[in-house]
Amino acid sequence: MTDRIAVLQADIAKLEIDAIVNAANEGLRPGGGVDGAIRRAAGWKLNAATMKIGGCPTGEAVVTEGFALPARWIIHTAGPVWKGGGAGEDEQLARCYRSCMARAAEIGARRVAFPAISTGVYGFPADRAAAIAVREIRAALASGADFDEIVLVAFGDDDLAVLSDALAPEGGGGEGAA
Ligand code: APR
Repeated sequence: MTDRIAVLQADIAKLEIDAIVNAANEGLRPGGGVDGAIRRAAGWKLNAATMKIGGCPTGEAVVTEGFALPARWIIHTAGPVWKGGGAGEDEQLARCYRSCMARAAEIGARRVAFPAISTGVYGFPADRAAAIAVREIRAALASGADFDEIVLVAFGDDDLAVLSDALAPEGGGGEGAA
């Protein structure tokens, strides 16, 4: 299944792909980080669309158009805030990936790009998050989810190394991963 998962270092807002995932907050209010980059590139209509939706509980995902983005769709998910790991953060992050894959299947997206949800402002450890991302995407593909490619987008050089490691056969997303 790994052959349908790729790691790419890029600004996710610039990708020509069916759907990109946004690391949003529960209120779908404008933020910084990847949300800021996506909103700047998508234009004001995105703010109007997320205001209309009104919110997205942690672990869930909602869809808007991509508006001025090259991507046709944006799948907004609210990741968990890292509180030390004992507050269900792993499962909440896993639910984000499952919810996004489910929304992507519903809209018929064939190629989907994910940022490293929760690993910026929300403070989730990058390696732990990468293992969860790879595990959940592999599980979705293994259970028959019909996608051409899922792209894990790294922003910085460190993220690129972490995501590449998690995707390696012996990496954190593989057999026996936490
Ligand atoms: N393209 C791809 N990845 C990016 C980009 C970009 N243009 N900009 C930032 N990133 C990466 C960060 O380096 C980090 O690895 O996205 C990851 C997630 O970081 P954040 O955007 O801070 O998201 P998160 O940790 O989930 O925090 C969400 O931040 O912007 C606010 O409104 C948002 O309150 C919410 C919170």
